Parts: sequence; C-alpha cells; structure tokens
Amino acid sequence: MQILQLKLVNFRNYKQNLFNFSSKKNIILGNNGLGKTNIVEAIYYLALTKSFRVNNDIFLINNESKYSIIEGKIKDTITNSYKIIIENKNKRVFINNNQIKKLSDYISKINIINFNPEDLKLIKDSPSIHRQLINIEISQFDNIYLKNLSIYNKILKQRNSHLKNLCFKKNYNTEYLYILTEKLINYGINIYNLRKLYIENINKYLNTNFKKITKKDGLILKYISNYENLTKDELIKKYINLYQSDINCGKTNFGIHLDDFIFYYQNVIAKNYLSEGEQKNVIIAFKLAEINIFIDIKKIIPILILDDLFSEIDSGKINKIFKLLKKSLQIFITTTDISNIDDKTLQNSKIFKLKNNSIEEIIYE
Ligand SMILES: Nc1ncnc2c1ncn2[C@@H]1O[C@H](COP(=O)(O)OP(=O)(O)OP(=O)(O)O)[C@@H](O)[C@H]1O
Ligand SMILES: [Mg+2]
Repeated sequence: MQILQLKLVNFRNYKQNLFNFSSKKNIILGNNGLGKTNIVEAIYYLALTKSFRVNNDIFLINNESKYSIIEGKIKDTITNSYKIIIENKNKRVFINNNQIKKLSDYISKINIINFNPEDLKLIKDSPSIHRQLINIEISQFDNIYLKNLSIYNKILKQRNSHLKNLCFKKNYNTEYLYILTEKLINYGINIYNLRKLYIENINKYLNTNFKKITKKDGLILKYISNYENLTKDELIKKYINLYQSDINCGKTNFGIHLDDFIFYYQNVIAKNYLSEGEQKNVIIAFKLAEINIFIDIKKIIPILILDDLFSEIDSGKINKIFKLLKKSLQIFITTTDISNIDDKTLQNSKIFKLKNNSIEEIIYE
C-alpha cells in the first residue's frame, strides 16, 4: 500500500500544497518547526481520522482558516482517493468522493505504521494511555475490534450512570443492572480475545526484531487483564459480587477498560531498566512486529512513517533497522540533518527539502 499523492489545504502551516510521493523512500528534510511532522501527521490523520499529537482538531486547522482538507491517492490493488474535511468539532470523510457516514467504516482502510517520539508513552505512561495507544493499533488492524470497543464503551457509560442512580435508592432491584452487566461481559470477552490474539502475534516477532537491532534478548509485551482465565459464568459471578462496591462508587470496577499492556525486558518492567535509546528501540521492534503481522496475516504491506527516529538512536542501529525493512515498503522519514542517513539508505529516495517559503524536491538515484 502506498500514498502516491497528498493534497493539503489549510492544514497546519500548509495553505495549499501538493506532494507527489515516491512509492519507496520519502525523506522530509528541514529545520525545526518547518512542518516535517505536519506532513506525516496529515498522512496519519487521513488513515485514522485523528492526530497522534493532539486530541482537539482545532489545532490542525491553519490559524487563518476555518476548515482544512486532507486528500490522498492511495494505491493498493487499485488506486482510491480518500478525503477528510475538518471543521471545528466536525469532520467528514470521503472515499472516491462518496461520504462515509460511520468513521468505523472508514478507519482501517489505509494502514499506517507510525513511529514518533510520542510512542514512548507506550512504555512510560499510565495504563489508560497504554490502552489508548494499543486500541488505535488494533483498530487499524481489525475494524471489528473498533466496533466492539465503541459498543463496549457505550454500555460501560450506561452501566456507570445506572450505578450512580442506584446509589441514591434504598431498595433497588438489580434486573436492569444484570442486563447491562451481561451485555458488557459479551463485548468485553470479544475485546479480550482480540487483544490477546494481537499481543500473541506481536510477541511472535517482537523479541526477534529487538535482538536484530540491539543484540539484546528477552523482550516481551505482556497483556494484563482481569478477564484472564475466567469463563463467562465466572465473570458474571465476579460482577455480581462487586455490585455493591460498584454502586457505592458509581462506576464499574472490573472489566477490560482497566487492562494494561506492559513491556518486560528479562522479566523486569522495561521502563525501569532500559535507557532512553533502548526504549526507542523497543518501540521500533514493536512497530516492525506490527508490519510483520500485517504482511503475514492480512497480506497487506502498510505504509511506514518514521518521524524523528534519528535522535537518541545511534547510526549503527539505524542501519540495522533499515536492513530489516522490506524493499517494497513505502517509507516516510523526517530529519533535520541528511548526514544522519547513510548513502545506501538515501539511494532511490525522494527528498522534500523544506525551506521557509518553499519546498525543493530532489530525486536521489
Ligand atoms: N494550526 C496551525 N496553523 C499554522 N501553523 C501551524 C499550526 N499548527 C502548527 N503550525 C506551525 O507548524 C510548526 C510545527 O511544525 P512541525 O511540528 O511539523 O515541525 P517539524 O519540522 O517537525 O519540527 P521539529 O524538527 O522540531 O520536529 C510550528 O512552528 C507552527 O508554526
Ligand atoms: Mg517534528
């Protein structure tokens, strides 16, 4: 899969720009603040209808405008055009100029594996951030997952507000609570199974990739869930036992909305042990494992974005990373300094050199 062309209108610092990308390597070169990440952010947004940097779309719209448009030609078996119009608090998505009403029918069509320094949150941050990031990754891989997740979240909200209502009642019956609980468990089990399978697949490649980059051995991503090893009947009992404490706090204290995903290196939590650079390599090994499973299971070659890879990773490891990448992969690399990239990697690439008011395109043979 490749993005052949990207048109940006009023997106961040781009008023009206057209990029014709190489189907192989694209290097986006320029000083700090010139808009390198903005380009890959637009590609990511076109695939996932959200940014990896901000939760509020208002930041994406050029500050002299009221809307922005991202449009891309994506080549898979055939070429389709994808478009998103972003307005304040509203976005519309189109495939070949037909509006797609449900975002969940749109997401997962363009497959992007995106590395950017924000991904370190997958190691460093709290379980809720880990979940958020892993949810995005699995949603791209499997759009059934996203559908299950949005229904689960809706039921969870209903259940929590019902729990709050019950809190004020002296005598209550649990009939409706039982109905909501059973529904929550049904969708929870689906999500649990999809997460478990995804993490198992990632682990088939994760440590091998890590070893090839760092020569270190013993990396694993652990899936921690309170649903583990419990049958549906056992789960129902568990929730019934927790009815009172759930009612007292007005929220659901058990379920896959509390899951976590933790990287371990040689049985120690990676964030407590590995260096900054090594943690970046963990994320790279994870992203490469995602590419592996896309290719092996979905038979799709996703688009790879490497934003700001070069800080904190030494050049020897970067070369190893590039050696691991399939030749047919379309890659976007952002960097402030071309001398970070060795000649072999530069070969067959298209360089977009960002300047203050213009973009120079250089084909590197
Ligand atoms: N909504 C917006 N409207 C206009 N310009 C914006 C908007 N949002 C961000 N920018 C501009 O985009 C710039 C940041 O771009 P970006 O993050 O892509 O830089 P970069 O080239 O990746 O830099 P670095 O090398 O530091 O990572 C900011 O300096 C800002 O001027
Ligand atoms: Mg940047």
